[in-house]
Amino acid sequence: MKRILVTGGAGFIGSAVVRQLLAETDAFVVNVDKLTYAANLSSLPGAADNPRYAFEKVDICDGEELRRVFAQHRPDAVMHLAAESHVDRSIDGPGEFIQTNVVGTFRLLEAARGYWMGLPADERAAFRFHHISTDEVFGTLGDEGFFTETTAYSPNSPYSASKASSDHLVRAWHETYGLPVVLTNCSNNYGPYHFPEKLIPLMILKGLKGEPLPVYGKGDNVRDWLYVEDHARALRLVLEKGVIGESYNVGGYNERTNLDVVRTLCALLDELAPAGAPHDRLITFVADRPGHDKRYAIDASKITRELGWTPQETFETGLRKTVEWYLENRSWWEAILNGSYRGERLGLDAA
Ligand SMILES: NC(=O)c1ccc[n+]([C@@H]2O[C@H](COP(=O)([O-])OP(=O)(O)OC[C@H]3O[C@@H](n4cnc5c(N)ncnc54)[C@H](O)[C@@H]3O)[C@@H](O)[C@H]2O)c1
Repeated sequence: MKRILVTGGAGFIGSAVVRQLLAETDAFVVNVDKLTYAANLSSLPGAADNPRYAFEKVDICDGEELRRVFAQHRPDAVMHLAAESHVDRSIDGPGEFIQTNVVGTFRLLEAARGYWMGLPADERAAFRFHHISTDEVFGTLGDEGFFTETTAYSPNSPYSASKASSDHLVRAWHETYGLPVVLTNCSNNYGPYHFPEKLIPLMILKGLKGEPLPVYGKGDNVRDWLYVEDHARALRLVLEKGVIGESYNVGGYNERTNLDVVRTLCALLDELAPAGAPHDRLITFVADRPGHDKRYAIDASKITRELGWTPQETFETGLRKTVEWYLENRSWWEAILNGSYRGERLGLDAA
């Protein structure tokens, strides 16, 4: 039985990874999460009673606690997803992003390295440190072209700069110390259990409440959307079969303008929650995000060619599943909206 330490397992993508590992493998999962505002242990139904699951409420910036966790749970692999992840919040308060994404990754690398060096030779060779990152490290594209694994880094937001820094640290720990790492850079994810500050859940919930649907600028920024369960499958594959020291881009080949996304959601809401139809009357254009990257698009041919991964969902099937999930799981998101987050606009800095 493999023992996998997942950081950020109470977040959106991390919880999808933990749910899959528990449901589809016989791995023992150690979830290391500080439980920030973005975390939700109710995204892991049944996990707490699973004998193959342990939860550690630990900040990845706390090196001493991390060393204890490694010594106690003796993982065969680390999947590092813990991060501050929302671009708008990084504009309002970049400090936390530097702390968790850069300093936290450094502390995790050091704790992993110390533990890894003490392993017997066969376990050292089999150990993996998988760093999960974003396509936003590559900056922005014009109308043409795709990000590949060799695209030069050119991050534009405090969030993407902090993720780029962490990618560089992970590479350096491989080159300098030989730590067996793999990296992935993924496009925008969507799906169940997504915190409602992000575009797709925000629009679904505002649409259901009949509130204005705020679209940044002209809504012509393009993102490449990937269903979160497809991402989690890609991550498991890279952990298992990825070549040490290599990075893999993961994307859904689903380029859409933000306005297209919101219009598609409105059409789905008209069908599945017809009381508020037509929902597209709620679309409202608001001030753009400062430094808003124009277009992201991933060339995911390497992970397909070398590891055989392809997404199972199209944008249409994934988005329908997502809207249905939010309609069927009101208690999950109502608890969030009754707490500290109220669906407010973030990321205009001093404006
Ligand atoms: N969401 C996307 O579209 C997307 C796309 C590509 C890559 N990524 C990357 O995937 C990872 C997961 O993203 P997500 O959307 O699930 O994020 P999320 O914000 O939903 O979850 C992050 C989790 O990390 C935890 N965390 C934050 N700071 C921590 C700390 N100091 N110590 C321990 N735990 C801490 C939080 O409590 C939370 O559970 C991130 O590294 C992100 O950069 C996200």
